[in-house]
Amino acid sequence: MAHIPVLLNEALEALSIQPSGRYVDCTFGRGGHTAALLDRLGDSGQVIGFDRDPEAVSVGQSLQASDGRFEMVHAPFSTLSDSLKARAIERVDGILMDLGVSSPQLDQAERGFSFQADGPLDMRMDPTSGLSAAQWLAQAEEKEIADVLWVFGEERFSRRIARAIIEARVEAPIETTAQLARIVAAAQPKKDANKHPATRSFQGIRLFINAELAEVEQGIAAAIDLLVAGGRLAVISFHSLEDRLVKRAFRDAARPPAGDPRMPLPSDVSQPRLKLVGKAIKPSPAEIAANPRSRSAVLRVAERTEAA
Ligand SMILES: C[S@@+](CC[C@H](N)C(=O)[O-])C[C@H]1O[C@@H](n2cnc3c(N)ncnc32)[C@H](O)[C@@H]1O
Repeated sequence: MAHIPVLLNEALEALSIQPSGRYVDCTFGRGGHTAALLDRLGDSGQVIGFDRDPEAVSVGQSLQASDGRFEMVHAPFSTLSDSLKARAIERVDGILMDLGVSSPQLDQAERGFSFQADGPLDMRMDPTSGLSAAQWLAQAEEKEIADVLWVFGEERFSRRIARAIIEARVEAPIETTAQLARIVAAAQPKKDANKHPATRSFQGIRLFINAELAEVEQGIAAAIDLLVAGGRLAVISFHSLEDRLVKRAFRDAARPPAGDPRMPLPSDVSQPRLKLVGKAIKPSPAEIAANPRSRSAVLRVAERTEAA
C-alpha cells in the first residue's frame, strides 16, 4: 500500500509557510508532506528531508534529482543539528515530524514489522544498522524483555510474555513475526476483544529496536535550537506514549526556565523558547474513513520565540 500522508493540510497550515523559506521534513517516508510543502514554495524555497530507511531515501534521492529545491539526508533526525551544520545551515523556518512507521514499512512482510503478515523478525527502520528484533530477542535477558514490553508496549502481561519468549527460544530461535505473534498470544491469559494480542508487544519491541522515544526527545530539542524566531515545529504522533512525550517537551519549553526565584535572570534567558499554538489537532471523521491508519494521529504545533 502506498503511504497516504496524514493530516496533510493541517500540518502545512501549521507550518505557516513562507514561499522563500527553508523547511525540514524529519520523516520523509514517501514524500507526501514534502511534495505538498514544495508546492507552496517558490524558486528560492528549500526543503531538507531526513529518513533513516534506505527505501525512503532512494525515493527522496529521485526527487532531489528532479527538484533542485530538495535535498535528501540518510540519517536519523536526532542528528538534525550536526547534519544541518555540515551543510552550513544554522537556522530553518519550519520543521515537521510525522512519527512512526510508513505504510510500506508495515505492509512489506520482509521488513518484519507486522504480526499480520509473516516475515523475518527485523523491525529496523534502517536495516543497515543496529540489531534486528530477532537478534535482540535471541540474547536479551528476561528482565530486559519484560521491561521493554512494559515500558514501550504498555503490555500488562509483560512478565509472562517475557518468560514465554525465553522458554520458546530454548526450543528454537525466534526468527519470524508469525512465530513471535504466536508465542505472545499463547502467553496472554486474557484477550482484548479490540486488539490483536501481539499489538502491544510488537509496538514495544519496535520502539525499543529503533530507539524511537529517545529520537523524538533529541529531535525536538534540536529542532527548538534550529528554528528562527516565529518558526514553527509541527509534530504528528501515533500513540499515547509518543504524544505524551511531545506534549511534555513542548510544555517544558513553553514555560519560563526555572531558576532561583531570588536571583534575577537576564531577560533573554528568562523567557520560554516556545509558544504553544492552538490545541492538539486530530483527523476529521472523513480522513479516518478514507485512511483508517490516520485514526490515532495527533498533531501538536509550537512556535519559536525570540528567547535565546
Ligand atoms: C509516518 S512515515 C512518514 C510519511 C511521510 N510524511 C509521507 O507523507 O510519506 C515515518 C517515516 O519516518 C521515518 N523515521 C521514523 N523515525 C525516524 C527517525 N528517528 N529518523 C529518521 N527517520 C525516521 C520512517 O523510516 C518512515 O519512513
